[in-house]
Amino acid sequence: MHLSGPLSGRWTAYLGLISTLSGVITPAVAVKEHDFKKCAQSGFCSRNRALADHVLSTNSWSSPYSILPESGSFKDGQYQAVVLKTVNDNGDTVRLPLTVSFLESGTARVTIDEEKRQKGEIELRHDSKARKERYNEAEKWVIVGGLTLDKEAKVDFEDKSQLTVKYGPTSSNFEAVIKFAPFGIDFKRDGVSQIKFNDQGLLNVEHWRPKIEKPAVENKDTSEGEQNQEDKEEEKKEEEEEPKGEDESTWWDESFGSNTDSKPRGPESVGLDITFSGFEHVYGIPSHTGPLSLKTTRGGDGSYSEPYRLYNADVFEYILDSPMTLYGSIPFMQAHRKGSSVGVFWLNAAETWVDITKGKDSKNPLSLGIGSKTSTHTHWFSESGLLDVFVFLGPTPKDLTAKYGELTGTTTMPQEFALGYHQCRWNYVSDEDVKDVDRKMDKFKMPYDVIWLDIEYTDDKKYFTWDEHSFRDPIGMGKQLESHGRQLVTIIDPHIKNTDNYPVVAELKSKDLAVKNKDGNIFEGWCWPGSSHWIDAFKPAAREWWATLFKYASFKGSMENTWIWNDMNEPSVFNGPETTMPKDNLHDGNWEHRDVHNLNGMTFHNATHHALKTRKPGELRRPFVLTRAFFAGSQRIGAMWTGDNTAEWGHLKESIPMILSQNIAGFPFSGADVGGFFGNPDKQLLTRWYQAGAFYPFFRGHAHIDARRREPYLMGEPYNTIIAGALRLRYSLLPSWYTAFHQAHVDGTPIVKPLYYTHPDEEAGFPIDNQFFVGNTGLLVKPVTEENKETQDIFIPDNEVYYDYFTYNVVASGKAGKTVTVAAPLEKLPLLMRGGHIFPRRDIPRRSSQLQKWDDYTLVLTIPKDGKHAEGELYVDDGDSYDFEQGQYINRRFVYDGAAKTITSVDKEGRDTKSVKQGEWLKKYNGVRVDKIVVVGAEEKVWGKKTEVDVVDESGKGAWKAKVEFTPADKAAGRASFAVIKRVGASIGSNWKVEL
Ligand code: NOJ
Repeated sequence: MHLSGPLSGRWTAYLGLISTLSGVITPAVAVKEHDFKKCAQSGFCSRNRALADHVLSTNSWSSPYSILPESGSFKDGQYQAVVLKTVNDNGDTVRLPLTVSFLESGTARVTIDEEKRQKGEIELRHDSKARKERYNEAEKWVIVGGLTLDKEAKVDFEDKSQLTVKYGPTSSNFEAVIKFAPFGIDFKRDGVSQIKFNDQGLLNVEHWRPKIEKPAVENKDTSEGEQNQEDKEEEKKEEEEEPKGEDESTWWDESFGSNTDSKPRGPESVGLDITFSGFEHVYGIPSHTGPLSLKTTRGGDGSYSEPYRLYNADVFEYILDSPMTLYGSIPFMQAHRKGSSVGVFWLNAAETWVDITKGKDSKNPLSLGIGSKTSTHTHWFSESGLLDVFVFLGPTPKDLTAKYGELTGTTTMPQEFALGYHQCRWNYVSDEDVKDVDRKMDKFKMPYDVIWLDIEYTDDKKYFTWDEHSFRDPIGMGKQLESHGRQLVTIIDPHIKNTDNYPVVAELKSKDLAVKNKDGNIFEGWCWPGSSHWIDAFKPAAREWWATLFKYASFKGSMENTWIWNDMNEPSVFNGPETTMPKDNLHDGNWEHRDVHNLNGMTFHNATHHALKTRKPGELRRPFVLTRAFFAGSQRIGAMWTGDNTAEWGHLKESIPMILSQNIAGFPFSGADVGGFFGNPDKQLLTRWYQAGAFYPFFRGHAHIDARRREPYLMGEPYNTIIAGALRLRYSLLPSWYTAFHQAHVDGTPIVKPLYYTHPDEEAGFPIDNQFFVGNTGLLVKPVTEENKETQDIFIPDNEVYYDYFTYNVVASGKAGKTVTVAAPLEKLPLLMRGGHIFPRRDIPRRSSQLQKWDDYTLVLTIPKDGKHAEGELYVDDGDSYDFEQGQYINRRFVYDGAAKTITSVDKEGRDTKSVKQGEWLKKYNGVRVDKIVVVGAEEKVWGKKTEVDVVDESGKGAWKAKVEFTPADKAAGRASFAVIKRVGASIGSNWKVEL
């Protein structure tokens, strides 16, 4: 076996696994931080940081970038000009075309490219096949809309030094002040600065240059003694005074471990400082561990000393509270303060780092910081490509997620089953094993929807094949699952085993669809199958070919309830630099891997999604594909999970901010391995993890091959019962989850929401990231993530009344900004209901979501503190096809009017639903009804004497009475009064009214 890379943790573990399988026990290997670069080990990161250090320690610094004023023109919402970069003391310049686009949505986009040299192209340093342009195709993969220019945007002011453009939708009052020399932009809303570009002068476009071979430095005679010492000191002084950022040692090649990156284009990074004026909190740029409100990164108390890194990587046994890169990246950051939310989206798919610092800024130097505001300074830099940044001026968090969603797309409408519970492990060892787990889940009354097969189901890691000894009858297995509405997910990775007698690899080679190495030959590396090649999903022909492999006739043993898991798509290459591909590898169009690295996983995920859509002619169903690697836009394709976590309390705790970060950054269909991938959770940890997992948008239990079996029914009592309770809670709330997914699909709203998002004016909530709301339900959850904890402190963000979900106890009322303590013994998940909401539920316990499909609904109405108004939503469709795009759905708005004493249901979009031509599903849904309405906090004076209410089905089915059962408050126990309207009977999809 030839090893060309460093012994990464993944690689060592792989070798360990092979020896374990062959009977040799190898110790487990923990994350090796040194497998991954620190900033100081990355050439462009060091250079950009050194530039920042130099600039920020020098008073006399002036950014060498300025707009050539006569080059500027403004037309149809777009400003174009040339930015000149002065590159030396002779005044030589490089021309950088600048485009500032003002979009109809109110988003602004700033793009800086580099003009080609007069001779046409840059010289490449050696005979590389790499493309000689800055990578400009990230947009092609990421942006799906929202680029219409705002023709109403107007130049409001212009002189020799600057230009002001007013833009944005009516009433938004956005302004961009473009300063010419040095170049910078100040984005304002209502005349107040929100975001500034190059305010600190860190703009850096490393222009292309030819390599000048320097003559070797002669060795000075060290015997010159004192004179030599003086020279040295003089040199040192000069060095210190020299602008930093010009360390050339990694310009033309760069080594890490035993890998050397030949850099045919030399240095070409782009960097910019982005200041969020007056903002103390910034969020986003997943995926990282650590808090939701991002930390500062330049050392000191409570700060990281490394920048946040975005470079999709297989970070084996990742560590907590760290800015280290993980499996996926979304370079979208939001800044928030009371009264304002703004954001930036840095569209660049190359390796990216982000430094964050905070500082007080006060105009008056005598104020001693009193009355000054904290601003957050961020410094972004990417290794190659364009500088391309979108600017969002809010003003609310919802505006940001909506505008970002307009550009990059929103969450795909999922398969309904995908919101149920997924049971996974590496590995279920045979079809009999799968069938046995399936039966046991039923036996122990634990609902689930999907069972998963990891890599061992294949014949020797050859995807699209089965290990025929262990999986003798995959179709029989699939049919057993299907018989109670269950699904199977099989793993298919992007590395294709390099072996004889494997048609998939033969075709990959003969059709020339694989990623190439720097010399233009097929790239070979190591992954699970050993020697492998990688599909280049950037190639249209590769995607078409990939689709053929998923046809039922090709992937024998797969069937209608088989879905796919894409893992290792960062891509993970065990013997590659940082466990991934060499940056000088080549993709479609001869773009270097360096340029597209962070997009790679998304293109593969996209290819699989596309393949599932076309696996049978005429069968247009929503695919379900889970991915590990992702980028901005992946939300349009499927779900993600946070990779290889560990069975420790800390990992459970940090899963929550990680998932919240995914949610606010536009990719909410996210979860963490329940139980922790590595290691063996004890029963308490596993139980708490199920309670938390029941509130992840993607809910899957998973375990490493070395971990003990931990299917939830194996825990014994009382754990089995408690876990079954958590699973059933998830299942009963599925209608609310599906509705929240639909909201995310419509406008990019998070599915689970942190407090700064739901309560943007409650400052004490801004750093809180261990509790969250689910959709618009008013359900506030704070899972227990610490061992032996029997109580939970919950922060109450407003003056509303909050009821305990299970007991209806009033936990808080009029407690904005305060913390309340609730009992949280092991059997109890801390879950509150905010007054003023109505949320849907299904109360009949079933074995899978598919078996609930036609069940009637329960509505839970929580009476608000002032008794006046409550509302909520339900969205439902067939959960499988795209017929919802043709109006085949139900979208209700429920309203409780305390004054009129009515509960009504109307179409949320105000459609005349009678005019919708009903397909089969919608027709059948007419039979699905509102079973009961539970009114929590039902006031005694209104409900106390009620024994029945009038129900009017406005769709013409008539009027009837429904029984009411009222339970008075239990003052001693602190429980609110409640009423249950029994068997309401109105059709869920029609307009109806309950009159008290
Ligand atoms: C790595 C994934 O993160 C993990 O979930 C999976 O079990 C292994 N690969 C084996 O496929």
